Amino acid sequence: MFYEPGRGHGLPRDPFKALVAPRPIGWFTTLNADGGVNLAPYSYFNAMADDPPVVCFSAGGPGRVKDSARNAAERGEFVHNLVTWDLREQMNATSEEVGPGIDEARLAGLDLAPCELVEPPRVAASPVSLECRYMRTVEIPQNGGDGPNLVVFGEVVGVHIGDDCLVGGRFDPEALEVVARLGYADYAVVAGAFRMPRPGLRD
Ligand SMILES: Cc1cc2nc3c(=O)[nH]c(=O)nc-3n(C[C@H](O)[C@H](O)[C@H](O)COP(=O)(O)O)c2cc1C
Repeated sequence: MFYEPGRGHGLPRDPFKALVAPRPIGWFTTLNADGGVNLAPYSYFNAMADDPPVVCFSAGGPGRVKDSARNAAERGEFVHNLVTWDLREQMNATSEEVGPGIDEARLAGLDLAPCELVEPPRVAASPVSLECRYMRTVEIPQNGGDGPNLVVFGEVVGVHIGDDCLVGGRFDPEALEVVARLGYADYAVVAGAFRMPRPGLRD
């Protein structure tokens, strides 16, 4: 089949998110204007550079600017927390559309821990957290919808890795059962990893 986005695909559900998959899940703690904690997952998320280390996520409509994007821009900071198999249900619970003053971390029964360099806390049970300083937002106007897509960029200024997560100095996403998003309501766990060093490089 072939389809042009915006002109109909004839399928029960838009397949786009399942076609660019698996995607890492950014799970962001931010603080709102009153200092309240906000926690939400975003799978339009990735690392974009390693010098300096930069990550970005995209918050889409409909009809409202999502709290994570607004808080990151207003407070200038956000924290990404890695989602593992053990945290999958809590991650999903924090995607519930609740009011801006509601602490999704508390709703999901998650303990938070302080960060070193930024004010938002991190998810204590997550083995990796990236402390990020907000850089800029790039707006992608929606074609048909009534809300913006806001792509938020942040520089990673601090990295937490659980001491027991490094084996021989290496981080192993398979051992930690890192969760990725596929599309629809489908997810994957990192498994069956294999090594393939690049020609002429030791990785
Ligand atoms: C696994 C997963 C991935 C998601 N990815 C995105 C995304 O990339 N962009 C987005 O706008 N919403 C995404 N959502 C929905 C948001 O998590 C949801 O709208 C949430 O309420 C936003 O919270 P906030 O307004 O507190 O930031 C995702 C939900 C789940 C469960």
